[in-house]
Amino acid sequence: MASPTRARTTLPGANRPVAKTAGHWLLASIGKTVLRPGGRETTQWLLDHIGIPGSTVVEFAPGLGITAREILDRGPRRYVGVDSDAQAVTTVSALLPAGDHQVIEASAEHTSLPAGCADAVLGEAMLTMHTDRRKLEIMREAARLLRPGGVYAIHEMGLTPVDLSPGTKDEIRRALARSIRVNARPLTIPEWVALADEAGFQVTDTYRTSMSLLDPRRMIADEGLLGTVRIIGNVLRRPEVRRRVLAMRRVFTTHRDHLLGVGFILTRRAE
Ligand SMILES: C[S@@+](CC[C@H](N)C(=O)[O-])C[C@H]1O[C@@H](n2cnc3c(N)ncnc32)[C@H](O)[C@@H]1O
Repeated sequence: MASPTRARTTLPGANRPVAKTAGHWLLASIGKTVLRPGGRETTQWLLDHIGIPGSTVVEFAPGLGITAREILDRGPRRYVGVDSDAQAVTTVSALLPAGDHQVIEASAEHTSLPAGCADAVLGEAMLTMHTDRRKLEIMREAARLLRPGGVYAIHEMGLTPVDLSPGTKDEIRRALARSIRVNARPLTIPEWVALADEAGFQVTDTYRTSMSLLDPRRMIADEGLLGTVRIIGNVLRRPEVRRRVLAMRRVFTTHRDHLLGVGFILTRRAE
């Protein structure tokens, strides 16, 4: 496995005011490389289930390119990254080895890639950031890109239990929006499954884990001991960043019983 790159000059989110920066770019600015709710363990689970060697893999929203490196290490015939952030495109393009690989600046809901071009589409920590309508558009685009029988692997934020009251869901969504400055809309597992069904997929496999992005144990598992020490040092040195990171952590901790990291392997249904 390639080691994560931690120091970049073209880091997405760099130069944005701390108070307004989206939580994922704020965390990236202090050296956090894994920006997904279910951590590396969920990513590994997804990668093990999509059959990468010799395949064409489209990744929606590669961000810092941490998962892109792992996909490329597994020997796809072709890798195509699609990110709407120009800096992310530059960052991930710089990681591509020689071969039939590319990263394009586009929205995942309208990639302009040809229909049926992919064996697998993967997307992590990006559907949750969108309204349910936009989630569906992105999932339909994944279905359009996949050959029949192709798989769509997603890693997102979940809510639990399945009968969580609408009031608590709203409270969690508001707290997330206030702290991470992104209108995050996590869903329960049946809600994710219903959206996938509407987009033309059946669920082949599901993974669930805690949403402990900023817990020490998960941080060490995701970033290594040295990486974690470096991140903590960066937080301590920058008071404005520290306030924001602690506010995010408080929200994750307060709602820990209702938040999940979820992974799904979705298979495109035959028409
Ligand atoms: C939280 S980061 C996740 C990055 C990466 N997938 C990871 O897990 O580390 C969100 C990324 O999604 C990208 N993004 C969000 N919405 C998008 C969309 N509709 N189309 C393409 N990229 C999108 C952002 O530009 C950013 O790079």
